[in-house]
Amino acid sequence: MSLAVVILAAGTGSRMKSKKPKVMHELAGRPMISWLVDTVLQLKPKKIIVVVGPDMKDLQTQVKPHATVVQKVRNGTAGALKCALPLLKNHLKNHGGDVLVLLGDAPLVSKATLQNLIRARSSKSGMAVLGAQVADPSGYGRLVVKGNTLLRITEHKDASAVERKIDVINTGAFCIDGARLAKWIAKVGNKNAAKEYYITDLPAIAVREGAVANIAMACCETEARGCNTRADLALLEEAAQDILRARAMENGVSLTNPRSVTFHHDTKIASDVTIEPNVFFGPAVSIAAGVRIRAFSYLEGVKIGANAIIGPFARLRPETEIGEGARIGNFVEVKKSKIGKGAKISHLAYVGDCLMGESANFSAGAITVNYDGVHKHKTIIGKNTMIGSNVNLVAPVRIEDGAYIAAGSTITDNVPADALAIERGQASVKKSWAKNRLRKK
Ligand code: UD1
Ligand code: MG
Repeated sequence: MSLAVVILAAGTGSRMKSKKPKVMHELAGRPMISWLVDTVLQLKPKKIIVVVGPDMKDLQTQVKPHATVVQKVRNGTAGALKCALPLLKNHLKNHGGDVLVLLGDAPLVSKATLQNLIRARSSKSGMAVLGAQVADPSGYGRLVVKGNTLLRITEHKDASAVERKIDVINTGAFCIDGARLAKWIAKVGNKNAAKEYYITDLPAIAVREGAVANIAMACCETEARGCNTRADLALLEEAAQDILRARAMENGVSLTNPRSVTFHHDTKIASDVTIEPNVFFGPAVSIAAGVRIRAFSYLEGVKIGANAIIGPFARLRPETEIGEGARIGNFVEVKKSKIGKGAKISHLAYVGDCLMGESANFSAGAITVNYDGVHKHKTIIGKNTMIGSNVNLVAPVRIEDGAYIAAGSTITDNVPADALAIERGQASVKKSWAKNRLRKK
């Protein structure tokens, strides 16, 4: 059967205290609306319409190429759904079928659960509502049932003391017979505590009109969670992280302490990678097989070759590539650089705007001096080179293959292949100086 989807996202999200539309707030670095649209696309609907508020250009861009309609006056969820009717009309005329209505601020519902909801509507009912059993139902609409079917939804603000004890809540996802939707919406009034037009009035209207309102249940509380406050956002972030952690483990990644690892929604990790505790992934990280990311590392915009070892306490910044089997140790920062196969930067170093050859060794305290206060410059380090401790390579500079740079040197000119470059003041040793000084005192 043909399916159209309407996502309601015009609310100001006033409880978030934000200038941004609520559904543009991110989970694992991705606006929550896009989590929902991605899931919806897996249902292969014929049409997706997102109801947005005035001045929500970013949101309209974010959901492109899907249609958007502006709800000029935010008078409630039924008011929002009503705004989508003109766009739905043609679709329903040509294809018929059901309309799946979703709340943009409840973004983590799964494909399987939405399929259950669609099935629940198809079994000779006028509509189906997705419920969820939750530990703390306060704030949510409650499902008032008779046997297996729904009588009505009562919003928290309007619920009696007895109704408030109901722990099965309205997640906000509805699947409605397209042929009857417009007729039912026209009957929604605003006689409630908030004086808004509530979509949650639809089940009672359907029942009054002789239709059955079915219930499907979400599999768990996280799927049902809506986002009204920053505290809700934090809970949703944790739930999104759990989804990404589970996905990584399914793909053969070992997480020694899953709850302490923070992924970005686009993190790509091959199998047999181990991630130790307290690792943070920013955008655009991809990791080849066999890599170990040791504890407390922070990675963004980096591609890591097979079997490399990163960290503990490594910081890898955007536009970086780490070669196969390379070793990036503790308190090492690498930015916009390409590190060759098997190269080692084992401790306390800064490498920026650098091309480092295979099997180079970049010792403790060595840095590329890449910035002159105005421009960034490149450092090119050949293969099998040995950059000693506390070396400054003042860019632009080139160290050819096999060259050695003695510890403590500041190098401003190119160094030819297999040479030793040393730049050091002569040490002067004054015998018994310290002992004599003490004696004078
Ligand atoms: C809503 C439900 C409640 C349910 C809860 C689940 C209603 C009346 N209540 O309450 O039963 O338990 O979600 O999370 O539906 N929106 C518009 N236009 C408007 C108002 C809202 O598009 O005029 C959009 C919002 O952007 C949001 C969604 O609808 O994405 C839900 O609105 P919200 O104000 O968050 O409703 P809740 O109080 O959470
Ligand atoms: Mg909400």
